[in-house]
Amino acid sequence: MSAPAGGAGGGGGHRRDLWIVAAWWAGVTVLGEILVGPLLRLYPEAASREGVVSDDAIFYLLRLVVPVVALVVILLVYSMVRFRARAGEVGDAPAQARGGRWAFAWLGVSAALTVSVIFYPGVTGLLEIWKSKTAVNPLTVEVVAQQWEWRFSYPELGIENAETLVLPKGRTVDFVITSRDVIHSFWVPSLRIKKDAIPGETRHLFLTPDRLTSTEEDPMTRVQCAELCGIGHARMRADVRVVAPADFEAWAAEQGGTTASAAEGSLPSTPARAQAVTP
Ligand code: CUA
Repeated sequence: MSAPAGGAGGGGGHRRDLWIVAAWWAGVTVLGEILVGPLLRLYPEAASREGVVSDDAIFYLLRLVVPVVALVVILLVYSMVRFRARAGEVGDAPAQARGGRWAFAWLGVSAALTVSVIFYPGVTGLLEIWKSKTAVNPLTVEVVAQQWEWRFSYPELGIENAETLVLPKGRTVDFVITSRDVIHSFWVPSLRIKKDAIPGETRHLFLTPDRLTSTEEDPMTRVQCAELCGIGHARMRADVRVVAPADFEAWAAEQGGTTASAAEGSLPSTPARAQAVTP
């Protein structure tokens, strides 16, 4: 980047180099933006309101980064080729002492870009996601991690130690997360945002599932431990179902009834729970 900048300060001499670099920059930027489109569509589809905010931020940053990376790489490669030492050339390259305005212009532009992304999508996105903390009537789901399994309890509904995470679509969930042994991490890829499960600590994660889905139809909708926690880490998973509110009510009623009749913490078997709701 210093080579064309140094030359341009002298005026005229390297004008041609600048035009060539500008043309390459424009071309590669357009091509990069075209290629980024399909790349973003490879991203698994989000299934929560907060996940969409997170995706929007990532996609925006990816699109923004294309011209920046293109400029840096093109200047580097062009300088390496155009200003390389030819056969017979010995000694140092010319001192790059002029053309400071180009360096300062680039410093100004990159600093402005950096500051701007702190506010958008940084602060704006976080505020949007944090809004979920103030949701009216969130559904509390207690998440307990243990080598190497997950258990879900719904205190308001009298449901304890469910092996499948069933969630109503459109209602904010307050996940209350802890661990019985080592550090794990609660993560449902399609809900996007994860939170560590730490022994002796209780952490809250607010997410609003906004798409009917299940582990069966989308493997990205599963609880997956995201913190190396021992030999069973990769298999530390749990099925997830996001169902319509009415189906959730029906499932909860069935679960609550069974749990109440089973009294002292004796739990209904998993098959009974699995049949309760067809998403
Ligand atoms: Cu639990 Cu990895």
